[in-house]
Amino acid sequence: IPVDPFDFIIFGGTGDLSERKLLPSLYHRQRDHQFCEPTRIIGTSRTQMSKDEFRAFARKAIEEHVDADYIDPAEIDRFLARLFYVPADAVSGEGFEDLKAMIADSTSIRAFYLAVAPALFDDISRNLKAHDLITPTARIVLEKPLGRDLASARELNDLVGRNFHESQIFRIDHYLGKETVQNLMALRFANALYEPLWNSAHIDHVQITVAETVGLEDRLTYYDKAGALRDMVQNHLLQLLCLVAMEAPASMDADEVRDEKLKVLRALKRIHDNEAPRRTVRGQYRAGASADGPVKGYVEELGKESGTETFVAIRAEIENWRWANVPFYLRTGKRMATRVSEIVIEFKPIPHSIFGENAGPIFANQLVIRLQPDEGVKQFIMIKDPGPGGMRLRQIPLDMTFAESFRERAPDAYERLIMDVVRGNQTLFMRRDEVEAAWSWIDPIQDAWENARQEAQGYTSGTWGPSASIALIERDGRTWHEST
Ligand code: BG6
Repeated sequence: IPVDPFDFIIFGGTGDLSERKLLPSLYHRQRDHQFCEPTRIIGTSRTQMSKDEFRAFARKAIEEHVDADYIDPAEIDRFLARLFYVPADAVSGEGFEDLKAMIADSTSIRAFYLAVAPALFDDISRNLKAHDLITPTARIVLEKPLGRDLASARELNDLVGRNFHESQIFRIDHYLGKETVQNLMALRFANALYEPLWNSAHIDHVQITVAETVGLEDRLTYYDKAGALRDMVQNHLLQLLCLVAMEAPASMDADEVRDEKLKVLRALKRIHDNEAPRRTVRGQYRAGASADGPVKGYVEELGKESGTETFVAIRAEIENWRWANVPFYLRTGKRMATRVSEIVIEFKPIPHSIFGENAGPIFANQLVIRLQPDEGVKQFIMIKDPGPGGMRLRQIPLDMTFAESFRERAPDAYERLIMDVVRGNQTLFMRRDEVEAAWSWIDPIQDAWENARQEAQGYTSGTWGPSASIALIERDGRTWHEST
Protein backbone atom coordinates (compact mmCIF):
# COMPACT_ATOMS: atom_id res chain seq x y z
CA ILE A 1 0.00 0.00 0.00
CA PRO A 2 1.53 3.35 -0.99
CA VAL A 3 2.37 5.77 1.80
CA ASP A 4 1.85 9.54 1.84
CA PRO A 5 4.67 11.60 0.30
CA PHE A 6 7.57 12.12 2.67
CA ASP A 7 10.95 13.75 3.04
CA PHE A 8 13.36 11.25 4.54
CA ILE A 9 16.39 13.07 5.90
CA ILE A 10 19.32 10.85 6.80
CA PHE A 11 21.89 12.31 9.18
CA GLY A 12 24.99 10.24 8.58
CA GLY A 13 23.78 9.88 5.00
CA THR A 14 27.18 8.83 3.72
CA GLY A 15 27.85 6.42 6.58
CA ASP A 16 27.87 2.69 6.88
CA LEU A 17 24.24 2.17 7.95
CA SER A 18 22.98 4.39 5.18
CA GLU A 19 25.04 2.48 2.64
CA ARG A 20 24.34 -1.06 3.82
CA LYS A 21 20.75 -0.80 5.03
CA LEU A 22 18.85 2.45 4.60
CA LEU A 23 19.42 3.23 0.92
CA PRO A 24 19.02 -0.41 -0.23
CA SER A 25 15.84 -0.73 1.87
CA LEU A 26 14.39 2.48 0.47
CA TYR A 27 15.20 1.25 -3.03
CA HIS A 28 13.23 -1.95 -2.41
CA ARG A 29 10.25 0.04 -1.19
CA GLN A 30 10.37 2.13 -4.34
CA ARG A 31 10.54 -1.03 -6.47
CA ASP A 32 7.42 -2.24 -4.73
CA HIS A 33 5.67 1.03 -5.69
CA GLN A 34 5.24 2.29 -2.18
CA PHE A 35 6.25 5.89 -2.82
CA CYS A 36 3.97 8.69 -3.95
CA GLU A 37 5.17 11.94 -5.43
CA PRO A 38 6.92 14.07 -4.33
CA THR A 39 8.83 11.74 -1.99
CA ARG A 40 12.45 12.76 -1.44
CA ILE A 41 15.42 11.25 0.33
CA ILE A 42 17.90 13.80 1.56
CA GLY A 43 21.34 12.79 2.70
CA THR A 44 23.23 14.99 5.08
CA SER A 45 26.58 14.78 6.86
CA ARG A 46 29.65 16.92 7.38
CA THR A 47 31.20 15.63 4.17
CA GLN A 48 31.09 18.17 1.38
CA MET A 49 29.43 16.40 -1.51
CA SER A 50 27.25 17.36 -4.44
CA LYS A 51 23.84 15.90 -5.18
CA ASP A 52 25.36 13.93 -8.05
CA GLU A 53 28.10 12.53 -5.87
CA PHE A 54 25.50 11.40 -3.33
CA ARG A 55 23.51 9.77 -6.09
CA ALA A 56 26.64 7.97 -7.26
CA PHE A 57 27.22 6.82 -3.65
CA ALA A 58 23.65 5.52 -3.49
CA ARG A 59 23.93 3.73 -6.83
CA LYS A 60 26.99 1.90 -5.59
CA ALA A 61 25.29 1.07 -2.31
CA ILE A 62 22.34 -0.46 -4.16
CA GLU A 63 24.49 -2.37 -6.60
CA GLU A 64 26.55 -3.81 -3.78
CA HIS A 65 23.85 -4.53 -1.24
CA VAL A 66 20.78 -5.45 -3.25
CA ASP A 67 20.47 -8.97 -4.61
CA ALA A 68 21.20 -9.10 -8.35
CA ASP A 69 17.66 -10.41 -9.03
CA TYR A 70 16.24 -7.09 -7.92
CA ILE A 71 18.62 -4.76 -9.72
CA ASP A 72 16.59 -2.91 -12.31
CA PRO A 73 18.54 -0.04 -13.95
CA ALA A 74 15.42 1.96 -14.83
CA GLU A 75 14.13 1.63 -11.29
CA ILE A 76 17.50 2.66 -9.87
CA ASP A 77 17.40 5.80 -12.04
CA ARG A 78 13.92 6.64 -10.82
CA PHE A 79 15.09 6.09 -7.26
CA LEU A 80 18.19 8.23 -7.65
CA ALA A 81 16.11 11.10 -9.01
CA ARG A 82 14.56 11.35 -5.51
CA LEU A 83 17.91 11.82 -3.83
CA PHE A 84 19.34 15.15 -2.66
CA TYR A 85 22.22 16.12 -0.46
CA VAL A 86 22.89 18.91 2.02
CA PRO A 87 26.20 19.18 3.89
CA ALA A 88 25.51 20.12 7.50
CA ASP A 89 27.42 20.23 10.75
CA ALA A 90 25.36 19.08 13.70
CA VAL A 91 27.56 20.82 16.24
CA SER A 92 27.91 24.29 14.71
CA GLY A 93 24.53 24.25 13.00
CA GLU A 94 26.13 25.17 9.71
CA GLY A 95 24.07 23.87 6.79
CA PHE A 96 20.76 23.68 8.68
CA GLU A 97 19.52 26.80 6.89
CA ASP A 98 20.21 25.04 3.57
CA LEU A 99 18.24 22.04 4.80
CA LYS A 100 15.44 24.38 5.76
CA ALA A 101 15.48 26.02 2.34
CA MET A 102 15.05 22.58 0.82
CA ILE A 103 12.18 21.27 2.94
CA ALA A 104 10.44 24.26 4.54
CA ASP A 105 7.81 24.67 1.84
CA SER A 106 7.01 21.01 1.52
CA THR A 107 3.83 19.63 3.06
CA SER A 108 5.24 16.10 3.05
CA ILE A 109 5.78 14.13 6.25
CA ARG A 110 9.26 14.67 7.60
CA ALA A 111 11.36 11.89 9.03
CA PHE A 112 14.77 12.70 10.45
CA TYR A 113 16.81 9.53 10.65
CA LEU A 114 19.80 9.82 13.00
CA ALA A 115 22.27 7.26 11.69
CA VAL A 116 25.02 8.89 13.74
CA ALA A 117 26.73 8.42 17.09
CA PRO A 118 24.36 9.13 20.02
CA ALA A 119 26.70 11.91 21.16
CA LEU A 120 25.18 13.92 18.28
CA PHE A 121 21.51 13.26 19.09
CA ASP A 122 21.23 16.33 21.26
CA ASP A 123 23.02 18.68 18.85
CA ILE A 124 20.94 17.53 15.92
CA SER A 125 17.61 17.76 17.68
CA ARG A 126 18.51 21.19 19.11
CA ASN A 127 19.48 22.48 15.70
CA LEU A 128 16.34 21.10 14.12
CA LYS A 129 14.34 22.99 16.71
CA ALA A 130 16.42 26.16 16.44
CA HIS A 131 15.90 26.22 12.69
CA ASP A 132 12.21 25.60 13.05
CA LEU A 133 12.27 22.31 11.21
CA ILE A 134 10.14 20.30 13.62
CA THR A 135 6.56 20.26 12.35
CA PRO A 136 3.82 18.49 14.33
CA THR A 137 4.04 15.50 12.01
CA ALA A 138 7.83 15.38 12.00
CA ARG A 139 9.41 12.22 13.37
CA ILE A 140 12.89 11.46 14.61
CA VAL A 141 14.45 8.01 14.40
CA LEU A 142 17.16 7.04 16.88
CA GLU A 143 19.62 4.23 16.29
CA LYS A 144 21.29 2.31 19.06
CA PRO A 145 23.23 2.46 21.31
CA LEU A 146 20.56 4.19 23.37
CA GLY A 147 22.85 4.73 26.34
CA ARG A 148 25.33 2.44 28.04
CA ASP A 149 23.43 2.23 31.31
CA LEU A 150 20.23 3.55 32.85
CA ALA A 151 21.65 6.95 33.73
CA SER A 152 23.02 7.69 30.26
CA ALA A 153 19.85 6.36 28.58
CA ARG A 154 17.75 8.70 30.72
CA GLU A 155 19.97 11.62 29.87
CA LEU A 156 19.72 10.87 26.15
CA ASN A 157 15.95 10.52 26.39
CA ASP A 158 15.67 13.79 28.30
CA LEU A 159 17.73 15.67 25.75
CA VAL A 160 15.82 14.44 22.71
CA GLY A 161 12.57 14.79 24.66
CA ARG A 162 13.14 18.53 25.02
CA ASN A 163 12.59 18.98 21.30
CA PHE A 164 10.43 16.05 20.24
CA HIS A 165 7.31 14.61 21.82
CA GLU A 166 7.46 10.90 22.68
CA SER A 167 4.91 10.19 19.93
CA GLN A 168 7.44 11.58 17.44
CA ILE A 169 10.40 9.52 18.66
CA PHE A 170 11.08 6.20 16.95
CA ARG A 171 13.75 4.16 18.74
CA ILE A 172 14.86 1.41 16.41
CA ASP A 173 15.54 -2.13 17.41
CA HIS A 174 15.92 -3.74 14.04
CA TYR A 175 15.11 -7.19 15.45
CA LEU A 176 11.50 -6.04 15.77
CA GLY A 177 11.37 -5.52 12.01
CA LYS A 178 12.40 -9.08 11.25
CA GLU A 179 9.66 -11.03 9.57
CA THR A 180 9.71 -13.96 11.99
CA VAL A 181 9.60 -11.71 15.00
CA GLN A 182 6.32 -10.31 13.79
CA ASN A 183 5.26 -13.81 12.97
CA LEU A 184 5.76 -14.71 16.58
CA MET A 185 2.88 -12.38 17.37
CA ALA A 186 0.77 -13.94 14.62
CA LEU A 187 1.57 -17.41 15.89
CA ARG A 188 0.62 -16.54 19.44
CA PHE A 189 -2.38 -14.36 18.86
CA ALA A 190 -3.88 -15.52 15.56
CA ASN A 191 -4.06 -19.17 16.57
CA ALA A 192 -6.15 -20.69 19.32
CA LEU A 193 -3.75 -23.62 19.53
CA TYR A 194 -0.81 -22.26 21.46
CA GLU A 195 -2.09 -19.67 23.88
CA PRO A 196 -3.78 -22.10 26.31
CA LEU A 197 -0.45 -23.94 26.59
CA TRP A 198 1.66 -20.80 26.81
CA ASN A 199 2.43 -20.80 30.53
CA SER A 200 4.27 -22.53 33.32
CA ALA A 201 1.78 -25.39 33.48
CA HIS A 202 2.84 -26.58 30.02
CA ILE A 203 6.12 -24.93 29.11
CA ASP A 204 9.26 -26.31 30.68
CA HIS A 205 11.64 -23.55 29.60
CA VAL A 206 12.50 -21.15 26.79
CA GLN A 207 15.82 -20.69 24.98
CA ILE A 208 16.77 -17.63 22.98
CA THR A 209 19.96 -17.89 20.95
CA VAL A 210 21.44 -15.19 18.74
CA ALA A 211 24.70 -16.62 17.44
CA GLU A 212 26.88 -14.81 14.93
CA THR A 213 29.93 -16.01 13.04
CA VAL A 214 31.35 -12.53 12.47
CA GLY A 215 33.94 -11.04 14.78
CA LEU A 216 34.55 -7.39 15.54
CA GLU A 217 34.03 -6.15 11.98
CA ASP A 218 34.94 -2.45 11.73
CA ARG A 219 33.53 -1.42 15.07
CA LEU A 220 36.50 -1.82 17.38
CA THR A 221 36.05 1.31 19.45
CA TYR A 222 32.31 1.04 19.93
CA TYR A 223 32.27 -2.69 20.55
CA ASP A 224 35.13 -2.80 23.01
CA LYS A 225 33.37 -0.23 25.17
CA ALA A 226 30.00 -1.96 24.91
CA GLY A 227 30.44 -5.75 24.94
CA ALA A 228 27.80 -8.34 24.16
CA LEU A 229 25.56 -7.62 27.15
CA ARG A 230 24.98 -4.02 26.11
CA ASP A 231 25.25 -4.60 22.37
CA MET A 232 22.83 -7.53 22.06
CA VAL A 233 21.11 -8.53 25.29
CA GLN A 234 19.84 -5.12 26.45
CA ASN A 235 17.97 -4.66 23.20
CA HIS A 236 17.54 -7.57 20.79
CA LEU A 237 17.39 -10.51 23.18
CA LEU A 238 15.20 -8.74 25.71
CA GLN A 239 12.83 -7.63 22.97
CA LEU A 240 12.49 -11.23 21.82
CA LEU A 241 11.94 -12.34 25.38
CA CYS A 242 9.19 -9.73 25.77
CA LEU A 243 7.34 -10.90 22.68
CA VAL A 244 7.44 -14.51 23.85
CA ALA A 245 6.42 -13.69 27.40
CA MET A 246 3.95 -10.80 27.17
CA GLU A 247 0.24 -11.09 27.81
CA ALA A 248 -2.07 -10.63 24.83
CA PRO A 249 -2.40 -6.90 24.22
CA ALA A 250 -5.93 -5.64 23.62
CA SER A 251 -4.94 -4.67 20.07
CA MET A 252 -1.88 -4.02 17.92
CA ASP A 253 -2.01 -0.40 18.99
CA ALA A 254 1.52 0.79 19.77
CA ASP A 255 0.93 1.58 23.40
CA GLU A 256 -1.12 -1.53 24.07
CA VAL A 257 1.75 -3.69 22.84
CA ARG A 258 4.42 -1.66 24.56
CA ASP A 259 2.53 -1.65 27.86
CA GLU A 260 2.56 -5.44 27.82
CA LYS A 261 6.25 -5.63 26.96
CA LEU A 262 7.04 -3.20 29.73
CA LYS A 263 5.28 -5.40 32.28
CA VAL A 264 7.53 -8.29 31.30
CA LEU A 265 10.68 -6.20 31.65
CA ARG A 266 9.55 -5.05 35.06
CA ALA A 267 8.87 -8.63 36.15
CA LEU A 268 12.38 -9.82 35.27
CA LYS A 269 14.10 -11.00 38.40
CA ARG A 270 17.14 -8.86 39.15
CA ILE A 271 20.46 -10.66 39.12
CA HIS A 272 22.49 -9.43 42.04
CA ASP A 273 26.15 -9.78 42.89
CA ASN A 274 26.00 -13.14 44.61
CA GLU A 275 23.85 -14.73 41.89
CA ALA A 276 25.77 -13.53 38.85
CA PRO A 277 28.38 -16.31 38.80
CA ARG A 278 25.62 -18.94 38.84
CA ARG A 279 23.20 -17.27 36.46
CA THR A 280 25.47 -15.59 33.95
CA VAL A 281 28.45 -16.52 31.77
CA ARG A 282 30.80 -14.09 30.07
CA GLY A 283 33.03 -15.25 27.25
CA GLN A 284 35.58 -13.86 24.84
CA TYR A 285 36.61 -15.54 21.62
CA ARG A 286 40.12 -16.79 21.10
CA ALA A 287 41.77 -17.71 17.81
CA GLY A 288 40.04 -20.51 15.96
CA ALA A 289 38.28 -21.19 12.72
CA SER A 290 35.36 -19.76 10.81
CA ALA A 291 33.79 -21.15 7.66
CA ASP A 292 36.32 -19.10 5.68
CA GLY A 293 39.38 -20.40 7.48
CA PRO A 294 41.46 -19.48 10.52
CA VAL A 295 40.54 -16.33 12.44
CA LYS A 296 42.29 -14.28 15.10
CA GLY A 297 41.22 -14.00 18.70
CA TYR A 298 39.39 -10.91 19.98
CA VAL A 299 42.44 -9.37 21.63
CA GLU A 300 44.61 -9.85 18.55
CA GLU A 301 41.89 -8.41 16.36
CA LEU A 302 41.57 -5.44 18.67
CA GLY A 303 45.30 -4.95 18.98
CA LYS A 304 45.30 -4.49 22.75
CA GLU A 305 44.44 -6.26 25.98
CA SER A 306 40.74 -6.20 26.79
CA GLY A 307 38.34 -7.91 29.15
CA THR A 308 35.24 -7.13 27.05
CA GLU A 309 32.84 -10.02 26.58
CA THR A 310 31.87 -11.22 23.10
CA PHE A 311 29.58 -13.92 24.50
CA VAL A 312 26.92 -13.89 27.19
CA ALA A 313 24.64 -16.58 28.55
CA ILE A 314 22.03 -15.80 31.18
CA ARG A 315 19.43 -17.78 33.06
CA ALA A 316 16.63 -15.24 33.25
CA GLU A 317 13.48 -15.56 35.33
CA ILE A 318 10.20 -13.73 35.02
CA GLU A 319 8.44 -13.26 38.30
CA ASN A 320 4.77 -13.38 37.45
CA TRP A 321 1.95 -15.93 37.42
CA ARG A 322 2.39 -17.05 33.86
CA TRP A 323 6.11 -17.70 34.02
CA ALA A 324 6.91 -18.71 37.59
CA ASN A 325 9.59 -21.45 37.52
CA VAL A 326 10.06 -21.30 33.73
CA PRO A 327 13.66 -20.29 33.07
CA PHE A 328 14.47 -18.28 29.97
CA TYR A 329 17.99 -19.18 28.87
CA LEU A 330 19.53 -16.44 26.76
CA ARG A 331 22.79 -16.66 24.86
CA THR A 332 24.49 -14.59 22.24
CA GLY A 333 27.99 -14.46 20.90
CA LYS A 334 30.29 -13.56 18.09
CA ARG A 335 32.50 -16.09 16.25
CA MET A 336 30.17 -18.93 17.11
CA ALA A 337 29.84 -22.23 15.27
CA THR A 338 27.05 -21.07 12.94
CA ARG A 339 24.96 -17.99 12.35
CA VAL A 340 21.58 -18.67 13.82
CA SER A 341 18.96 -16.74 15.74
CA GLU A 342 16.17 -18.74 17.20
CA ILE A 343 13.69 -19.06 19.99
CA VAL A 344 12.96 -22.52 21.34
CA ILE A 345 9.89 -23.13 23.42
CA GLU A 346 10.22 -26.49 25.12
CA PHE A 347 7.00 -27.97 26.43
CA LYS A 348 6.83 -30.24 29.45
CA PRO A 349 7.40 -33.97 28.98
CA ILE A 350 4.40 -36.28 28.83
CA PRO A 351 3.40 -37.41 32.33
CA HIS A 352 3.59 -41.13 31.59
CA SER A 353 4.64 -43.30 28.66
CA ILE A 354 2.46 -46.20 27.60
CA PHE A 355 4.94 -47.42 24.98
CA GLY A 356 7.66 -49.32 26.81
CA GLU A 357 11.41 -49.18 26.21
CA ASN A 358 11.43 -50.62 22.72
CA ALA A 359 9.57 -47.61 21.41
CA GLY A 360 12.65 -45.48 22.01
CA PRO A 361 12.91 -42.13 23.81
CA ILE A 362 10.00 -39.73 23.85
CA PHE A 363 11.23 -36.19 23.42
CA ALA A 364 9.39 -33.20 24.79
CA ASN A 365 7.60 -31.14 22.14
CA GLN A 366 9.55 -28.14 20.98
CA LEU A 367 8.43 -25.14 19.03
CA VAL A 368 11.41 -23.60 17.24
CA ILE A 369 10.99 -20.12 15.87
CA ARG A 370 13.90 -19.36 13.61
CA LEU A 371 14.68 -15.74 12.79
CA GLN A 372 17.68 -16.37 10.59
CA PRO A 373 18.89 -17.85 8.39
CA ASP A 374 16.06 -19.85 6.72
CA GLU A 375 13.40 -18.11 8.70
CA GLY A 376 10.47 -20.21 9.71
CA VAL A 377 8.76 -22.13 12.44
CA LYS A 378 9.10 -25.80 13.25
CA GLN A 379 6.92 -27.69 15.67
CA PHE A 380 8.69 -30.86 16.78
CA ILE A 381 6.32 -33.70 17.62
CA MET A 382 6.53 -37.44 18.20
CA ILE A 383 5.02 -39.86 15.67
CA LYS A 384 5.10 -43.56 15.04
CA ASP A 385 7.93 -44.55 12.76
CA PRO A 386 6.14 -45.57 9.56
CA GLY A 387 6.22 -49.23 8.54
CA PRO A 388 5.59 -52.62 10.02
CA GLY A 389 8.46 -52.48 12.54
CA GLY A 390 6.14 -52.27 15.55
CA MET A 391 5.51 -49.25 17.72
CA ARG A 392 8.72 -47.29 17.45
CA LEU A 393 8.54 -43.60 17.98
CA ARG A 394 10.31 -40.84 16.15
CA GLN A 395 10.58 -37.07 16.50
CA ILE A 396 9.78 -35.07 13.39
CA PRO A 397 9.37 -31.37 12.67
CA LEU A 398 6.17 -29.97 11.27
CA ASP A 399 7.96 -27.49 9.11
CA MET A 400 6.52 -24.07 8.32
CA THR A 401 9.64 -22.68 6.66
CA PHE A 402 8.51 -19.45 5.11
CA ALA A 403 10.74 -19.23 2.09
CA GLU A 404 9.42 -22.55 0.83
CA SER A 405 5.81 -21.88 1.66
CA PHE A 406 5.61 -18.43 0.17
CA ARG A 407 8.56 -18.24 -2.22
CA GLU A 408 8.84 -14.53 -1.73
CA ARG A 409 11.83 -12.36 -0.99
CA ALA A 410 12.18 -11.86 2.75
CA PRO A 411 12.24 -8.08 3.17
CA ASP A 412 14.99 -6.63 5.30
CA ALA A 413 13.90 -5.51 8.77
CA TYR A 414 14.70 -1.92 7.87
CA GLU A 415 12.19 -1.88 5.02
CA ARG A 416 9.31 -2.55 7.33
CA LEU A 417 10.56 -0.21 10.02
CA ILE A 418 11.25 2.73 7.71
CA MET A 419 7.75 2.51 6.30
CA ASP A 420 6.31 2.35 9.82
CA VAL A 421 8.17 5.55 10.62
CA VAL A 422 6.55 7.24 7.65
CA ARG A 423 3.13 5.86 8.60
CA GLY A 424 3.65 7.00 12.17
CA ASN A 425 3.15 3.51 13.58
CA GLN A 426 5.22 3.03 16.73
CA THR A 427 4.21 -0.55 17.53
CA LEU A 428 7.60 -1.96 16.53
CA PHE A 429 9.64 0.79 18.19
CA MET A 430 10.77 0.99 21.77
CA ARG A 431 9.13 3.45 24.08
CA ARG A 432 11.22 5.42 26.52
CA ASP A 433 10.11 3.48 29.59
CA GLU A 434 10.86 0.16 27.88
CA VAL A 435 14.43 1.13 27.11
CA GLU A 436 14.91 2.33 30.64
CA ALA A 437 13.34 -0.79 32.16
CA ALA A 438 15.68 -2.93 30.07
CA TRP A 439 18.69 -1.00 31.37
CA SER A 440 17.40 -1.36 34.93
CA TRP A 441 17.76 -5.11 34.53
CA ILE A 442 21.09 -4.96 32.71
CA ASP A 443 22.84 -2.54 35.08
CA PRO A 444 22.97 -4.87 38.12
CA ILE A 445 24.47 -7.63 35.94
CA GLN A 446 27.12 -5.29 34.63
CA ASP A 447 27.79 -4.07 38.17
CA ALA A 448 27.98 -7.60 39.53
CA TRP A 449 30.55 -8.49 36.89
CA GLU A 450 32.61 -5.46 37.73
CA ASN A 451 32.34 -5.87 41.50
CA ALA A 452 33.30 -9.52 41.43
CA ARG A 453 35.75 -9.06 38.56
CA GLN A 454 33.92 -11.90 36.80
CA GLU A 455 36.24 -12.48 33.89
CA ALA A 456 35.29 -13.37 30.36
CA GLN A 457 36.16 -17.01 29.80
CA GLY A 458 37.97 -17.86 26.60
CA TYR A 459 36.26 -19.90 23.89
CA THR A 460 37.65 -21.04 20.60
CA SER A 461 36.25 -19.20 17.60
CA GLY A 462 33.87 -21.45 15.69
CA THR A 463 32.44 -23.15 18.79
CA TRP A 464 29.31 -22.62 20.90
CA GLY A 465 31.01 -20.50 23.54
CA PRO A 466 32.65 -21.29 26.88
CA SER A 467 31.91 -24.63 28.51
CA ALA A 468 30.40 -22.72 31.44
CA SER A 469 27.48 -21.87 29.16
CA ILE A 470 26.77 -25.56 28.68
CA ALA A 471 27.08 -26.07 32.42
CA LEU A 472 24.63 -23.20 33.03
CA ILE A 473 21.78 -25.10 31.40
CA GLU A 474 22.94 -28.63 32.24
CA ARG A 475 22.88 -27.83 35.93
CA ASP A 476 19.11 -27.65 35.50
CA GLY A 477 19.04 -31.01 33.69
CA ARG A 478 18.47 -29.37 30.30
CA THR A 479 20.52 -28.90 27.14
CA TRP A 480 20.85 -26.22 24.49
CA HIS A 481 18.85 -26.99 21.39
CA GLU A 482 21.16 -28.13 18.62
CA SER A 483 20.79 -25.67 15.81
CA THR A 484 21.39 -27.09 12.39
C1 BG6 B 1 23.53 -5.06 15.95
C2 BG6 B 1 24.76 -5.26 16.80
O1 BG6 B 1 22.56 -4.37 16.68
O2 BG6 B 1 23.02 -6.32 15.54
C3 BG6 B 1 25.79 -6.05 16.04
O3 BG6 B 1 25.29 -4.01 17.17
C4 BG6 B 1 25.21 -7.34 15.49
O4 BG6 B 1 26.93 -6.34 16.86
C5 BG6 B 1 23.91 -7.08 14.75
O5 BG6 B 1 26.16 -7.91 14.62
C6 BG6 B 1 23.23 -8.36 14.38
O6 BG6 B 1 22.14 -8.10 13.54
P1 BG6 B 1 21.62 -9.19 12.52
O7 BG6 B 1 20.41 -8.57 11.91
O8 BG6 B 1 22.72 -9.44 11.56
O9 BG6 B 1 21.31 -10.39 13.34
